[in-house]
Amino acid sequence: MLKEREQWKSRLGFILAATGSAVGLGNVWRFPFVAGEQGGAAFLVIYLIAVAFIGYPLMVTEISIGRKTQRNPIGAFKALAPNTPWWIVGGVSVLAGFIILSYYSVIAGWSLAFIIESIAGFPEGIEATDQLFGGHKTGIAKPIFYHALFMVIVIGVISAGVVKGIQRVVQWLMPILVVLLLMVVVRSVTLPGASEGIAFLFRPDFSAVSWDTILSAVGQSFFTLSLGMGAIITYGSYLSAKENIPSSSVQVIGADTLIAIISGLAIFPAVFALGFAPDEGAGLVFVTLPAVFAEMPFGGGVGFLFFVLLSIAALTSAISLLEVVVSYFVDEKDWPRKKAAASIGIAAFFVGLLPVLGYSALDHIKFLGMDILDTYDFFADSIMLPLGGALTAAFAGHVWSTKSLMEEANKESKSFRIGSWVGPFLKYIIPIGIIIVMIAGIIEVL
Ligand code: PHE
Repeated sequence: MLKEREQWKSRLGFILAATGSAVGLGNVWRFPFVAGEQGGAAFLVIYLIAVAFIGYPLMVTEISIGRKTQRNPIGAFKALAPNTPWWIVGGVSVLAGFIILSYYSVIAGWSLAFIIESIAGFPEGIEATDQLFGGHKTGIAKPIFYHALFMVIVIGVISAGVVKGIQRVVQWLMPILVVLLLMVVVRSVTLPGASEGIAFLFRPDFSAVSWDTILSAVGQSFFTLSLGMGAIITYGSYLSAKENIPSSSVQVIGADTLIAIISGLAIFPAVFALGFAPDEGAGLVFVTLPAVFAEMPFGGGVGFLFFVLLSIAALTSAISLLEVVVSYFVDEKDWPRKKAAASIGIAAFFVGLLPVLGYSALDHIKFLGMDILDTYDFFADSIMLPLGGALTAAFAGHVWSTKSLMEEANKESKSFRIGSWVGPFLKYIIPIGIIIVMIAGIIEVL
């Protein structure tokens, strides 16, 4: 039975929603710290190559699959390849969305908590901020409270629907996000000594590059573009047949990449100017930056703006994660949207309690030396998303066929079209490349 499906009210609505999904913790929290650990500009170069040659074809593919089928990821694969096991790829996507949402909300909760901390004022010195963050993370009541609060907001947005919920929220929040980010950049790059941080971001040092760097860059390109797990298929399923898919893809990818680089510009100049190290890892944003804010002129206000913008970025991504799973239950199981949003959001909250407790009651549980949150992140980012991406590419190239893909993608595109070069990319280069990089990267991690 086909129900009336909601559609974005404008092309801009889709672009903002997809950019909102793409721009998230991955840009503001993850990109800078991974780049900081993996040699700055050298990582940036590899990441840009991955975005162009893997990200772009896959973005076009996912939007096209969604728009063609008007279905959630599982339903989409079923519709294009009935009576085959390909729906499992959609199944892995929906599962990945659920798992990412569960720990994404934990990190977003830290960000909400730090909005409050920034009002109280950050303490001076990295030991003090390390203690502040450590104290927060290893607590129980507070991190659980903020994780719950964030999840409730996400559920609220998704319950309201595609247009009244998602589109309305992103239309307000995305412009605010950009303005706040630019304000932080201006403060950061005008600090005395900021140029060293700018050089770090733009002057490549290829001696730091290893297989792990390449795996990180490929994984990051999936994560940051929300690819390989059905979010873009789902958002594409609400897209009208009138819109140009190749040019929309370029706009979303361009905006996401720009915001990652601008986030680097907001962070590294300030970090270097105040004499801190760029390779703090996951703590870069929560330990190093608060120490930076404590010492810099107007740091209190800047810190507040920064954590507000980080929370907004996380929210507009988390709603796309929940929407993937919700769309499956709404389409295939006929659940009312509100019931689906609430029950899946609450389930993700509970699954997210493990990574919260991984810093306290469960801190003895380690996987390859990683705590529970890092383990979730490793599985999602380095395994599930690349695998989902490789399989989606192979599916589009071999099963759905490049011809049908190009037909759907180029339907409304007279000048800006995706060319037949995408065929060999989807069929061979992307899947094989991803598998090689994954195996090499995982062997190195082990
Ligand atoms: N793209 C988001 C980010 O960069 C994360 C995300 C991944 C969102 C996958 C949806 C799907 O933070």
